[in-house]
Amino acid sequence: MKMTVVGCGYLGATHAACMAELGHEVLGLDSDPDRIALLATGKAPFYERDLDGLLAEHTASGRLKFTTSVEEAAAFADLYFVGVGTPQQPGSGSYDLSQLFGAVRTLAPHLTAPAVIAVKSTVPVGTAPQLAELVRATAPAGDLVEIAWNPEFLRESSAIEDTLRPDRLVLGFDTPGTRAETVLRQAYAPVIASGTPMIVTDWATAELAKGAANSFLAAKISFINAMAEVCEKSGANVSGLADILGHDVRIGRRGMQPGIGFGGGCLPKDLGGFIARAEALGAGEAVGMLREAESVNARRRRRVVDLAREELGTDLRGKRITVWGAAFKAGTDDIRDSPALAVAGALHALGARVTVTDPQALDNARKLHPELDYAEDPAAAVDGADLLLHLTEWPAFAHLDPGPLAARARTPKAVDARGTLDTGRWRAAGWTVRAPGRP
Ligand code: UGA
Repeated sequence: MKMTVVGCGYLGATHAACMAELGHEVLGLDSDPDRIALLATGKAPFYERDLDGLLAEHTASGRLKFTTSVEEAAAFADLYFVGVGTPQQPGSGSYDLSQLFGAVRTLAPHLTAPAVIAVKSTVPVGTAPQLAELVRATAPAGDLVEIAWNPEFLRESSAIEDTLRPDRLVLGFDTPGTRAETVLRQAYAPVIASGTPMIVTDWATAELAKGAANSFLAAKISFINAMAEVCEKSGANVSGLADILGHDVRIGRRGMQPGIGFGGGCLPKDLGGFIARAEALGAGEAVGMLREAESVNARRRRRVVDLAREELGTDLRGKRITVWGAAFKAGTDDIRDSPALAVAGALHALGARVTVTDPQALDNARKLHPELDYAEDPAAAVDGADLLLHLTEWPAFAHLDPGPLAARARTPKAVDARGTLDTGRWRAAGWTVRAPGRP
């Protein structure tokens, strides 16, 4: 099949490459000429494992092309996946839908024949009818252009796997059984054939699915982090507790790693957006527990700052703190709402001299936090440190030998906020290690 992917950020670029991998002819459209030029050479503008390989393979084979021309994209196919960004509006929990409406407003006047617009971007429930109205009013083909809702559940760092072998496919339609459903079933035929559960539903349920899923994931993380607070007061061990709870298949251990709390461009934004929309709909009471999940999450970052002050004294001026990690989680160079950088920034603001290291995210971190110091080598970053904070769970950090590191630090003190260091080994090597939620 031929298809266009509108918006070539994390979601769109990955989707375009994966659709080409499934055998389709794909044209990616984005208004950013630099991004399009880079993608056309087979390179992603961000770090995602295996994505460069797929882009290189399919741009070379000619199955994957990129353009900034809406006219070209509209003429290329009659199936349009839309994966533009829907960021948080500054100062509120609500979504900024200007890119989404802008993309559809630009595309619609070119749609002169029956077409399907399948939206993957995350939105507040109730957006689909508004988009449909816009298309009806501005597309020459009018009602023959159908809107489908096709939320995306990929995680950064496993984006390709999640797209090609998702846990489920969700398709939302105003009316089931129309041409849009046939077209999308055809587009996803290999994924469906491999046994992926598929749920065909209405627009509102499909729209809600993504926000509800991310809210649940966020609440699950905050649940175990709230348990970490109780563990700290009671001398229990939150890692052991998570293992015990996780063996109950109704609970499950995955996505319940205690630590510094959730960050990134999705969970915090979608939790806030879900709460804001529910409140606007008059269902504010229903999301009270989600507001609590936000509070628990904010406390995790503060707890790490407090631990640093417990170790070094309240006056941090002149203290040298090394931060292992800048990315919001391992496996990405994404620093959006990164807990590690939030803590690093807060400690710097308190007067500490903070040196940050990360295997992938240093370039992005430097731009956002020019006030911090940076080091490429995690071992060298420890030189002369009064305190080491382990804030992003890159395996490369956990693999380092704590023995030689102890000699490089001024005082061998560490806080393992991610809970993935072998604290027994570190202590045996002479380190004092604090780990929130663990005795
Ligand atoms: C999240 C969802 O997991 C995806 O399903 C969704 O499609 C995506 O958002 C999106 O909306 O596009 P992602 O932001 O890539 O994916 O990251 P996660 O792996 O969910 O991690 C989010 C944050 O929670 C990270 O800061 C991570 O370190 C933290 N986390 C995750 C924990 O603290 N504990 C865990 O057990 C899992």
